[in-house]
Amino acid sequence: MIFTQEMLESMKKVEAAREANIAYEPPRMSAEEKEALLAEYHPDYKDKGFTTIKIGPNKGERAPIELEEMIEGRSRVLDLNVDLNKVDYDVDVLVIGGGGSGSSAAIEANKAGANVMIVTKLRIGDANTMMAEGGIQAADKPGDSPAQHYLDVMGGGHFVNRPELVRKLVMDGPGAIKWLNELGVEFDKDEDGTMVTTHGGGTSRKRMHAAADYSGAEIMRTLRDEVLNRGITVVDFTAAIEIIKDENGNAAGAVLLNMETGEVRVARAKCVVIATGGAGRMHYQGFPTSNHYGATADGLILGYRAGAKLLYQDTLQYHPTGVAFPQQIYGALVTEKVRSMGAKLINSEGEVYVHPLETRDVNAAAVIRECSTRGKGVPTPTGKAVWLDTPMIDMIHGKGTLEKRLPAMLRMYLKFGIDMRETPILIYPTLHYQNGGLEIGVNGMTRVENLFVAGEAVGGIHGRNRLMGNSLLDIIVFGRNAGQQAAAKAKTVTVGALTLDHVAKYEEERKAAGIDSETASPKLLPDYTRKF
Ligand code: FUM
Repeated sequence: MIFTQEMLESMKKVEAAREANIAYEPPRMSAEEKEALLAEYHPDYKDKGFTTIKIGPNKGERAPIELEEMIEGRSRVLDLNVDLNKVDYDVDVLVIGGGGSGSSAAIEANKAGANVMIVTKLRIGDANTMMAEGGIQAADKPGDSPAQHYLDVMGGGHFVNRPELVRKLVMDGPGAIKWLNELGVEFDKDEDGTMVTTHGGGTSRKRMHAAADYSGAEIMRTLRDEVLNRGITVVDFTAAIEIIKDENGNAAGAVLLNMETGEVRVARAKCVVIATGGAGRMHYQGFPTSNHYGATADGLILGYRAGAKLLYQDTLQYHPTGVAFPQQIYGALVTEKVRSMGAKLINSEGEVYVHPLETRDVNAAAVIRECSTRGKGVPTPTGKAVWLDTPMIDMIHGKGTLEKRLPAMLRMYLKFGIDMRETPILIYPTLHYQNGGLEIGVNGMTRVENLFVAGEAVGGIHGRNRLMGNSLLDIIVFGRNAGQQAAAKAKTVTVGALTLDHVAKYEEERKAAGIDSETASPKLLPDYTRKF
């Protein structure tokens, strides 16, 4: 048994209260209660984690310290010999990033007849899409509608979402599920072929479509197959380190760095799609993360230095249920689907202290409150944690349900000797998602002509808090959209002489602001070397 004595004693209280806790329906919080809770406990509200942006289009605004360090950092191209007269790749549409949104963009651009290339600093599929577990929302069932979905998204995002982007998200949602289904995604279905759908936090209808608890891996598998079957060029282990513009100020390609050999390549393109994903590996405010190894906000920096604006760069999502124990998988995701199937959040005293399907920001803040001022956290090697009472699932739905619906999660814990069908698990918030990102119009383009963005690098779709399952939806909807729009735009573009003048200008701005940081930017990979 790997649990400590203290954990075992608290677990006894959880077990003793389990039947009563299953029957107990915790009250929903009022808007005022939620705001008060967030203001006191949510990391986005902690000023010590933030600073003011000193240069560029968002000068004067608030940003996480670690992101601002990259914004202020030194462009990697300044120390390299980049010959823009020697073009190594010449394409219509350059997609930077090999995750779900990049692959969707590439597929659609290819379908539209464009010559497309994907560059990715790791391998195609090494992305947050692959890590997504619980499912993908879309209003495609009787009794639901895109209008209802719209209201949920806006409410979850604190009503500051860009309405036109939310409209596109929800209107194109049913079509996105159909597209994935036809491509071959193995969604969970009843015997008659109807898709199984469940609730997520903040949803008013059951519209979460899933492939067990590895929905993202199943979607990514399908998209990757489609990219490869279509013969789309994929350049692996190659990072984009700067956007190239042309003499007219339009995006016109990227400087590429081979991650293995250090060789530099020039890609010229009529249109560029940034699809670089999230930022969990920035470890904002010291949080662990559920993200893949390459999630370092690169696209935000590339776009920003090229002149695109950021939107809501100061809002991050801390998934309420990251693994808190055992330490080997600290920060890994415990899908919200566990709660949508009935498992409740329980403190060290065996008490239900919050509704399990409040929105993520609220639930994360409530976990932090239990573990801090309320003193009802269970000590772990990394701090404090609360319980997620997973045995409730089989008690509510019948034996075998957890194994059938959450097989990957069950296996992950069994590897460490924890059977979540029998014992509750310890959780604490983990850095999961970048709510903000680069500002786009409904056509997917930034204010830099011919520079498009899709997926987690976009800001505005989810406002200041995303609901579960809307990220897998947005990578499909806005990924496909960016591919279609970029391919259409590419037909009208003549690329002028290539230039990196904007990088030189940014460097002058840095100097004028008194910034002398030598930190290489973008980050590309996290640094886990031990500092003695
Ligand atoms: O909890 C989860 O399965 C995560 C889903 C999401 O971020 O959309």
